Amino acid sequence: MAQPIIDLNNVSVTFKQGKEVVHAVQDVNLQIQPGDVYGIVGYSGAGKSTLVRTINLLQQPSEGSVTVDGDIFFKDHQQQVSKKELQTKRRNIGMIFQHFNLLNETSVIENVLFALKHSDLDEDAQEKKALELLELVGLKDKADFYPVQLSGGEQQRVSIARALANDPKILISDEATSALDPQNTNQILDLLKKLNREIGLTVVLITHEMDAVKRVANKIAVMEHGKIIEKGKLQDVFLRPKQELTRQFVGGSLAAIDTLKAFDLDHLEDEELFQLVYNGNNVTQSIIVELYRQLNVEASILYGNVEVLSGQPVGTLFVIVKGADEQRQAAVKFLNDNNVTVTKVDDRRIWNE
Ligand SMILES: Nc1ncnc2c1ncn2[C@@H]1O[C@H](COP(=O)(O)OP(=O)(O)OP(=O)(O)O)[C@@H](O)[C@H]1O
Ligand SMILES: [Mg+2]
Repeated sequence: MAQPIIDLNNVSVTFKQGKEVVHAVQDVNLQIQPGDVYGIVGYSGAGKSTLVRTINLLQQPSEGSVTVDGDIFFKDHQQQVSKKELQTKRRNIGMIFQHFNLLNETSVIENVLFALKHSDLDEDAQEKKALELLELVGLKDKADFYPVQLSGGEQQRVSIARALANDPKILISDEATSALDPQNTNQILDLLKKLNREIGLTVVLITHEMDAVKRVANKIAVMEHGKIIEKGKLQDVFLRPKQELTRQFVGGSLAAIDTLKAFDLDHLEDEELFQLVYNGNNVTQSIIVELYRQLNVEASILYGNVEVLSGQPVGTLFVIVKGADEQRQAAVKFLNDNNVTVTKVDDRRIWNE
């Protein structure tokens, strides 16, 4: 396997606030390969932003080592390079945020030029480069506009052009689509994917929206209380989520929750609600039929959906399985044997959050 472009080993970040000690990041190991679009999900306060601040060298870890593009920056409680070098290297990592942080007093192209002020290019070359960047994000015709004259999605495009000014190999997006409507969100995500495909940009995508990860990421890490509790290829994590929180993220599609809320699920007798996740190339309808045929166990489908993850179909079903204890256990075993991941849904509080 190629050398990771981002290599975090046993990284912890601890903050002291008066007498309180906050373990914002705890013993994280994360290897990101060149060309990955790596989604990092987790609820508010999980430590996502703190973790990526160690990647873009703004946050020195309390423990562990940080290697980016072959250079070791932090190790054994020490900064390994000079402050000046750290500043220079920081420019090689692009960053975009929820709030676009544009200079509102200056035009779109000047916003991009601002990021080029440390470059070796002469003035003409800088202007040419800024226009190329604006073309790349689809905004060349608005170079002389001011940020207030642009939509939120367009402003985020300007900040992407600015983030790419110094030809970074890595772009970190920290909730960059959180302030955008769904259409603009998808356009920005598709732009990140295009940059990933066309210029080989490695993207680290922090979000609490699972749909964003599903749309563009090939890998995912789930964070909780400063720790990465699960990580891997997107499809593997979706098909076989190990942790409860991951299941919540995976199964937490709003459409599914809305549908399930319409059923009276509080008075089930000899019945259980299960979430089934399976490779969409399997024909599950026949699995439900086989379940009845072979085990005489009935399962009724409350909600079903197939979506495409990194180009592969993944199906989710919520079913009520009827029958005595042994029959339901046999049904779960039968489904597992047929490569269906089965999760009993017995805590419905998460739907109401
Ligand atoms: N500079 C700091 N000083 C003290 N505590 C901090 C600091 N930065 C972050 N924290 C704490 O570290 C924890 C993780 O914060 P972080 O911002 O990394 O979470 P997050 O996952 O990005 O959350 P969100 O989704 O809300 O952005 C929180 O408890 C936060 O209060
Ligand atoms: Mg954050």
